[in-house]
Amino acid sequence: MNNELREIYKESFVLFEGAVSEITSRLDTMRRYRKANDLRDPVEHYTSRIKSLESIEEKLSRKNLSESAEGFGKIHDIAGVRVVCTYIDDVYAIADMLATQKDIEVIAVKDYIKNPKPNGYRSYHMIVRVSVYTGEKTERIYTEIQIRTIAMDFWASLEHQLKYKHDVKKQDIIISELRRCAEEIASTEMNFQVIRDMINEEKGTENEITAG
Ligand code: GTP
Ligand code: MG
Repeated sequence: MNNELREIYKESFVLFEGAVSEITSRLDTMRRYRKANDLRDPVEHYTSRIKSLESIEEKLSRKNLSESAEGFGKIHDIAGVRVVCTYIDDVYAIADMLATQKDIEVIAVKDYIKNPKPNGYRSYHMIVRVSVYTGEKTERIYTEIQIRTIAMDFWASLEHQLKYKHDVKKQDIIISELRRCAEEIASTEMNFQVIRDMINEEKGTENEITAG
């Protein structure tokens, strides 16, 4: 294993942890605030991870990048947060909420909800730079934020298992079934939102997460 890579990983680890905790603490406060004000929590749960050195090496070689500090700097998903929401519009509300924070700079967005991947994958991805203060200086740390609904998350976990499926004959069927499910899920989720809005109209409450 490459020493330069190991050293820089060790040195930066605390910064990645800092970046993740900046994001998750925003989410925590927002959720607590909403709870305290009897507002619906748009977040089902979130998870976070810091990419292992092994996965970084795998990605460097997959992307033809050098196993050095330079290659390391080009990987923008070492710190990662995945936010799982209830409804599709919650995904965009959370994305907006994070994007408007002064110390979170949005670098790139991939909206696989509006433009699903050919296999049916849906999710909203943001690469951001988060300001992390070390006590000496402020570092801007690349972080990947994936935001999706429960249904999208369910689909992605199932699809992920395909990676380990080597029976090629069955693969074709699985791939086409997954694609069909992705479409059904997308349409069902739209219906859920319409039903939710109808219920809320009846109750005379607001739907936006900012209001109710
Ligand atoms: P990576 O090199 O894997 O990081 O992908 P990328 O740089 O092309 O970025 P992209 O935004 O497409 O994917 C980033 C991450 O989203 C992946 O590491 C997965 O966690 C998730 N993801 C993307 N596509 C799929 C997919 O087809 N299925 C599943 N299950 N997850 C996906
Ligand atoms: Mg990745």
